[in-house]
Amino acid sequence: MKKFNISVITTPYRAKLIISIYKSWFKRNGKALDVGCGTGIVANILKKELGLKITGCDVKNYLIHNIPFVKVKGDKLPFPKHSFDVVLFNDVLHHIDKPKQEQVISEALRVGKNVFIFEYEAGTGGKILDIVLNKFHYDDLNTPLAFRSANEWKQLFKKLSANYDYIKLKKPFWYPFTHIAFRVSKNK
Ligand SMILES: C[S@@+](CC[C@H](N)C(=O)[O-])C[C@H]1O[C@@H](n2cnc3c(N)ncnc32)[C@H](O)[C@@H]1O
Repeated sequence: MKKFNISVITTPYRAKLIISIYKSWFKRNGKALDVGCGTGIVANILKKELGLKITGCDVKNYLIHNIPFVKVKGDKLPFPKHSFDVVLFNDVLHHIDKPKQEQVISEALRVGKNVFIFEYEAGTGGKILDIVLNKFHYDDLNTPLAFRSANEWKQLFKKLSANYDYIKLKKPFWYPFTHIAFRVSKNK
C-alpha cells in the first residue's frame, strides 16, 4: 500500500453518490457485508451515515480504516446462509472476469437477503479511465474491464431467477461516469 493514498480525496465523493442511491433501500441498523471493500473508506462512510453494522471482505487487504475484515479466496464467501441483511458490491464486479460474475452474485444472494450493486456503464473513455484511476488508487488491482451494460446485468439477474430494482444516477455534465445501481433479491 502506498504511504499517501489518493482514495482519501476521490472516494468520499463517490461514497456520496452511493449513499444517494442506497439510502432509500437500506434499513437503519442493518447488517451489511461490503464485498471488495478496498480501503474501507466507503464502508466507514456508510456505517456513519446510515448506521450500518458493516463487515468488509476482499481478496486483498487495502484497508486504511479499521473495520471488521475477512480476507476471502476466489468465489466463496465464508458465511452461513442469510447472515447479512445486505451484501454490497461497490465498483467491484467489473474487476471480476465475466464468467465468474454469475457465481459471485449467486454466493452473495446466499449469504445476504438483498444484494446492492453499484457499477458504471463504460464506453472506451470510461475503460481507459478505469485503468488509469485504478493504477493511481491501488497499484496492483486486476482490471479486466468486465463491464456490462444495464441490460446485460438485468439478463444475468433473470438467469439467476432473481428480482431486481434498477436506478441510473443523474450526473453533473462534467462527471465522466454513468453510474447504475441494482437491488437484487431472491424469493425465499
Ligand atoms: C475499485 S476497488 C473498489 C473498492 C471499494 N468497494 C470502493 O468502493 O472504494 C475493487 C475492489 O474489489 C476487490 N475484489 C476484486 N475481486 C474480488 C473478489 N472476487 N472478491 C472480493 N473482492 C474482490 C479488489 O481487491 C478491490 O479492493
